[in-house]
Amino acid sequence: MSEPKKLFIKTYGCQMNVYDSERMAEALGGQGYVETKSPDDADMILLNTCHIREKAAEKVYSELGRFKGLKADKPDLKIGVAGCVAQAEGEEIMRRQPLVDLVVGPQSYHRLPEMEAKTREGEKALDTDFPEEDKFEKLKNRPKAKRGPTAFLTVQEGCDKFCAFCVVPYTRGAEVSRPADRIIREAQDLVERGVREITLLGQNVNAYHGAGPNGDMTLAGLIWELNKVDGLERIRFTTSHPNDMDDALIEAHGTCDKLMPYLHLPVQSGSDKILKRMNRSHTAESYLRLIERIRDARPDILMSGDFIVGFPEETDEDFQATLDLVEEVKYGYAYSFKYSTRPGTPAAERPQVDAEVADERLQRLQAMITRHQREIQDSMVGQTVSVLFEKPGRQTGQMVGKSEYLHAVHVSDADVLSGDLHRVRIKSSGANSLGGELV
Ligand code: SAH
Ligand code: SF4
Ligand code: F3S
Repeated sequence: MSEPKKLFIKTYGCQMNVYDSERMAEALGGQGYVETKSPDDADMILLNTCHIREKAAEKVYSELGRFKGLKADKPDLKIGVAGCVAQAEGEEIMRRQPLVDLVVGPQSYHRLPEMEAKTREGEKALDTDFPEEDKFEKLKNRPKAKRGPTAFLTVQEGCDKFCAFCVVPYTRGAEVSRPADRIIREAQDLVERGVREITLLGQNVNAYHGAGPNGDMTLAGLIWELNKVDGLERIRFTTSHPNDMDDALIEAHGTCDKLMPYLHLPVQSGSDKILKRMNRSHTAESYLRLIERIRDARPDILMSGDFIVGFPEETDEDFQATLDLVEEVKYGYAYSFKYSTRPGTPAAERPQVDAEVADERLQRLQAMITRHQREIQDSMVGQTVSVLFEKPGRQTGQMVGKSEYLHAVHVSDADVLSGDLHRVRIKSSGANSLGGELV
């Protein structure tokens, strides 16, 4: 038997890319590839890229430049670019970086095996189509090997919302939901392989409307179906849009035991003027009322969000409204970004905010978010949480897992294995994790 070929995949961007990278590695597994952790001994290097901000996209070109030496030493080395930069700039990548052999978009990577074969013939392969066929159906069945206790599962892709700053509707295409029965089958397979927690993924996961046995199913319906899967202990979902939080989903947060009390619900800004210009179609007030209803259903839910500062025409007053909103919500986690101009999006045409002003606002917002984050984490001391253990910690004898609120929790010298779920009393709160004891 011939030596397996080695594949090195580097993943940028969101969780959907993490899931896609797994599926691409599996697809190339059929071509005799096994994964390697280093680009140095790879026969194929695949960068799974993100186009969301300028820095993310530029990173790809600098990373590619670093492979020049490797390719000179090993002319058979194939270099591929996948993901959202591939979709947005496919032809340009080939032009700017001649060492690239293959460019594949997020909707066509089921065609990777044929594309890889083409590169072995010495040809270049480019595919950034949005094909009619369902790529997940075309991909081979997933392997049966044992895996860690947590997994992502993409249930919905693409976005029809067209926020004025965002490239996703262009790189990922229109909203499409996978049929419920296939998701449930995939979840059952994951559970058989050792998975106990599944995070359902979609660019707008709560807009899910996949075919079910009695017509389209909503995300809440899908969660209730997954709730019946024996051996699956925890369900999460991300990312959701405020406009798609329907009553059934809010209610599920109060009544579905397996649905974890954590919700990532990006609002982007606290100013109605800015929200309008962002084309977000919700107001700060409607968002706050929504959170009130969610907290009525599940009082201990931990909220998480995304913010953009320095969006075109954002004034000090607009920014203050964002700070006010953050003060009111108190997020357990929040991600804030300086607005990045994306060519082809409507906001790129608007008067831009001075970079220094945006930097200063970002620092202020991040300081507030960090303070809240820390307060919420510290308030866990003395409480008992449930922890799904995943891996050994940094110190010997330590095991680390995640609480239902997604805080990292470690215990020392306890008899726990990866995949175990235990009740843990929290004793200490450190910079990035909580420490506790089994109860
Ligand atoms: N579908 C998700 C988010 C996708 S992108 C949602 O609607 O929430 C993840 C985050 O990146 C966004 O929530 C936003 O805060 C940020 N983002 C997107 N485009 C950006 C841009 N042009 N500049 C800065 N941040 C951006
Ligand atoms: Fe981008 Fe807005 Fe769609 Fe989220 S909802 S992916 S921010 S366009
Ligand atoms: Fe980035 Fe594409 Fe995800 S642009 S955030 S990898 S959908």
